[in-house]
Amino acid sequence: MATRQVETAQSTDAPPAAGRSLSSYAGAALFAPTRLLFRAMVRLGSTPLDDEIGNVEAVASPSDLGAAYRGKRAIVVGGTKSIGATIVTTMQSAGAKVTVVARSAVATDTTDAFAADLSTVAGCEKLIDDIAAAGVAPWDYLVFTVGAWPDFSQPYTSDGVEKVVALDLLARHLVLDGLAAHGLLASGARVLNVLASAQLVPLQTEESVKARVEAKTPPATLPYALFPVGIAADAWLQDAAARHPSLTLVGMFPGIVASTQLPLCTFPSWMMPALTAAMLPVASSDADAGLAHATVLASPNVARKRVSYFNYMLEGRRAHELAYSPTLGAWISAHLDGIAAASRAAR
Ligand SMILES: NC(=O)c1ccc[n+]([C@@H]2O[C@H](COP(=O)([O-])OP(=O)(O)OC[C@H]3O[C@@H](n4cnc5c(N)ncnc54)[C@H](OP(=O)(O)O)[C@@H]3O)[C@@H](O)[C@H]2O)c1
Repeated sequence: MATRQVETAQSTDAPPAAGRSLSSYAGAALFAPTRLLFRAMVRLGSTPLDDEIGNVEAVASPSDLGAAYRGKRAIVVGGTKSIGATIVTTMQSAGAKVTVVARSAVATDTTDAFAADLSTVAGCEKLIDDIAAAGVAPWDYLVFTVGAWPDFSQPYTSDGVEKVVALDLLARHLVLDGLAAHGLLASGARVLNVLASAQLVPLQTEESVKARVEAKTPPATLPYALFPVGIAADAWLQDAAARHPSLTLVGMFPGIVASTQLPLCTFPSWMMPALTAAMLPVASSDADAGLAHATVLASPNVARKRVSYFNYMLEGRRAHELAYSPTLGAWISAHLDGIAAASRAAR
């Protein structure tokens, strides 16, 4: 299958109008050379291409995805901001009926919504109860973009779970299993898990990934806080496929997206202008990011394996080798179930 760069499909060729936010300049033609350089760097830090999955063919606009999304139902958990919000817009433009979940989710004429705080087990269980009580039809697509940056000053939630683990792993696990248990995912539904798939993370072992997930001591650096959780999420997807035989699961590395909000709990305020300036020349525009994610999820490529992994360049890649360890995936699911059981017992 021919591969085109998604960047060429929607990148902003005209300079953005005056008065726009700095992030709207991301994706501008001016930055094409730096984006290309960044793509080369991302490839250097990526796992090998997955020849069985292959690369996905880019499309020019959301309307080209109509065959996959028209009349379908999608739920985007974390769909109010940044990557999630642009996936919502893209799927709606392609004809899907989309439900958004987040703390600030609000229903509109075009979007259904469930407001939920997923940072605790009780919050995740309340969401599932609310959805089940609403009597909605099953979804054809489930997208996870809910996530957190590490909070170096207050690292744990009220459940005692490290915050990145709580939203990037635990919340996703509880929502997936809760929706499936209530028959709210259609047979053959596709699940897109947006985090940090297919990254070559050095010096990791099964034990070191487990230690990061347990987080008995909080992570002290950003790479340690994020990258082992990406491996854990990809291992969790393998286990989720075994537990949910009718689902097709996809892990995704989104690159850097224009509207990313860097939080003060992770970065000192004096660093923000420099970080924002560094991201601008390499970030994908929101439109390109939304189209890339929706294109991968709709592609025939993801049907070639129960679990596949991609990056925002539409390249099908293998996960980190540790993600294929059945013992690691099963341990992660059991560990997350254990946290949920402990939280219930404590209530
Ligand atoms: N942005 C990037 O460039 C980038 C790069 C690599 C990986 N990633 C990963 O991709 C995922 C999405 O990134 P993003 O930049 O789009 O994240 P984001 O802008 O922080 O958005 C996260 C979404 O989750 C929701 N959310 C946050 N806390 C929540 C909570 N306690 N309960 C319910 N919903 C909550 C947010 O909405 P509310 O605030 O309304 O709740 C928002 O819709 C994250 O896991 C991130 O680590 C992002």
